[in-house]
Amino acid sequence: MSEILSVKELCKENILRDVSFTVEEGEMVAVMGPSGSGKSTLLYLVSGMERASSGEIRFGDTEICSMSDEALARLRLSETGFVFQQMNMFSNLDLFDNILFPAVQLKKGRTERKEAGRRAQALMEKLSIGNLGARRITEVSGGQLQRACICRSMMNRPKILFADEPTGALNQGAAAEVMEELERIHREGTTILMVTHDCKVACRCSRILYLLDGKIEGELKLLGLSARERENRAGAWLAGMGW
Ligand SMILES: Nc1ncnc2c1ncn2[C@@H]1O[C@H](COP(=O)(O)OP(=O)(O)OP(=O)(O)O)[C@@H](O)[C@H]1O
Ligand SMILES: [Mg+2]
Repeated sequence: MSEILSVKELCKENILRDVSFTVEEGEMVAVMGPSGSGKSTLLYLVSGMERASSGEIRFGDTEICSMSDEALARLRLSETGFVFQQMNMFSNLDLFDNILFPAVQLKKGRTERKEAGRRAQALMEKLSIGNLGARRITEVSGGQLQRACICRSMMNRPKILFADEPTGALNQGAAAEVMEELERIHREGTTILMVTHDCKVACRCSRILYLLDGKIEGELKLLGLSARERENRAGAWLAGMGW
């Protein structure tokens, strides 16, 4: 396996301090930590949405901190997907056009646009919202809206998907459905870096990073363990972290 994301001594004002970690291609990694510890900020930085104060971030061989805004925006659109904690959908567009939006931003030709439309519809069918394309974002449930956000994040076939509390606003049933979709996307080959407050969600990842006061306090590897072992180990480890 090769490194898809490499972060070295990353700092952001007084929010993040000397954060270093790597993510291998094909991993699904969880970031946990108390509210305000810097989890969302970390995702914004490593996904290239916000600029770091200092440090190094690499997507494969590409160092992104020194890139121009334009080049970075393009790389972000074509290589990464983002599922936001606050969902961030356009209220003036229907669900279908929200999902299509990242493809439109890439400004592809007419044939590619048509293809993108078919892909948006296919993604929606896969996530069981195929019949909701014409609905406004206020006309669907929270779980349906979060699944639409996942469709949007997958629109440009990202190599790495960043997800900030993708199940945070959902009830248990809807959260389980969203988690199943993310696991399927992961099985199909997308690397995932996900923030979560939910130990059950984190247990399904290959690794958990624990952030405290803007620093990585610890890392737990869960790869190769049974579901029960993961839950036991993660539970004990998180308790030790003061979770
Ligand atoms: N744009 C900003 N400008 C200044 N401070 C900010 C900004 N965004 C976040 N912060 C501060 O940085 C700290 C970390 O915020 P962040 O949103 O990354 O935390 P979090 O771990 O994601 O929390 P939560 O679990 O509540 O989502 C907080 O103290 C927050 O107030
Ligand atoms: Mg957050």
